[in-house]
Amino acid sequence: MPRFEQEPDPVFWELNASLRYDRRLAPYDVRQSRAHARALHGAGVVDDEELETLLDGLDAVDRELESGRFPFAPEDEDVHMAIERRLTEIVGRVGGKIHTGRSRNDQVATDLAMFVAERAGVAVAELTGCLELILELAREHRDARLPGYTHLQRAQPVSLGHHLLAWFWMLRRDVDRFRVAADSAAALPLGSGALAGLNWDLDRAGVATELGFDRVVENSIDAVSNRDFAVEYLAAAALCATHLSRIGSEIVLWSTSEFGFCRPAEEFSSGSSIMPQKMNPDAAELLRAKAPRVVAALTTLTGVMHGLPLAYSKDLQEDKEPLFDAADTIELSLRALAGMLPGIEFDHERMAAAAADEMVAATDVADLLVRRGLPFREAHGVVGGLVRHAIDAGIPLSAIPREELAGFSDLLDDEYYEVLGEGSWLDSKVSRGGTSAAALADQIDLAAASLAALG
Ligand code: ARG
Repeated sequence: MPRFEQEPDPVFWELNASLRYDRRLAPYDVRQSRAHARALHGAGVVDDEELETLLDGLDAVDRELESGRFPFAPEDEDVHMAIERRLTEIVGRVGGKIHTGRSRNDQVATDLAMFVAERAGVAVAELTGCLELILELAREHRDARLPGYTHLQRAQPVSLGHHLLAWFWMLRRDVDRFRVAADSAAALPLGSGALAGLNWDLDRAGVATELGFDRVVENSIDAVSNRDFAVEYLAAAALCATHLSRIGSEIVLWSTSEFGFCRPAEEFSSGSSIMPQKMNPDAAELLRAKAPRVVAALTTLTGVMHGLPLAYSKDLQEDKEPLFDAADTIELSLRALAGMLPGIEFDHERMAAAAADEMVAATDVADLLVRRGLPFREAHGVVGGLVRHAIDAGIPLSAIPREELAGFSDLLDDEYYEVLGEGSWLDSKVSRGGTSAAALADQIDLAAASLAALG
């Protein structure tokens, strides 16, 4: 006699059933069911013949899933129930043995860990591709100069290669974060049962090896409660999406007529339905806008886990949709960046003209005074006076006559005009990590080595 006398309310069913979205865990569920069947065999729960029947049945289920012919039924609450039901339809009563020594609690945690490990690997691969492209662009544009900005005001000139390498290192850190998430996901929950462990001493280490985990979760309560690996993946994805958003934003800005530093890749842009002259950098705009959605996924999952007593609660079913959406979003965004990068055309002349704005050499004039013994703070004041005078007079800094210089500081002489001479400001940034050609060459080598180390 079944435990329940009433059928579930349809509204409850709609709320409670996860099949709509967790069906994408099916391939992982089949794989772990195979490993679990072997563990049951090892523990003497199923005999040789039963094991073979179960494995053949799971192969048949797998084929149905792959071909899209798997008959999901409205009564299937989730993917785990669907697969067990179908397995039993195919192989008969012995199918009912597959759930021995297993709970959907350790099962779903295992599927999810497999998903995270795999997708973290995909993110690393996509990121690596982006890093290669960015490094290539940095090499190509190492001699091009543009203004660097702070507060989106022209600040100091930099090499475009240098600026692009700032993107490189930003995304390079994301690789490490996805790897940490993958490592967290490499501990096997399966074999923990509902929460307390099993009445069979299954070979968990063997299951772990078969499924590509490198260790087992050592506490059964922790195993079914833990979603840290998903949170860590989402944190990595959220920050990565945030980085892509900043890159997208720069491409958008740079491709305006006002900046005119680049033309976005045509295959990643759209026209306007009304204004024929337009080429809109849609892909870059969408990179810019996807980040909050990925961050929201992270917030959702930490929100679900917040205050949740151990061990499993149905709340944890809410881990999936944000995780899946974030994974799809970050991977698509990374593919879009990789796709659009080679097609961007940089306008070296426009950038150089903007970088030739003498005002961006103000710090270098101050440093000239510092070399002559003036404390930097005083030098800053002197140059502030020069800048103000030039602006008021409507002339560039270099047009201030030699005889007027002494009125600002008697430390100023002809070298003032040399410092303002185009180019000297950029090549003077000789510090490690700076934008001078020599420092940039070192940096390119370091970036290449760090990429090579990724294997
Ligand atoms: N669909 C469930 C989830 O995604 C599977 C685990 C159900 N466990 C349970 N005790 N009802 O979390």
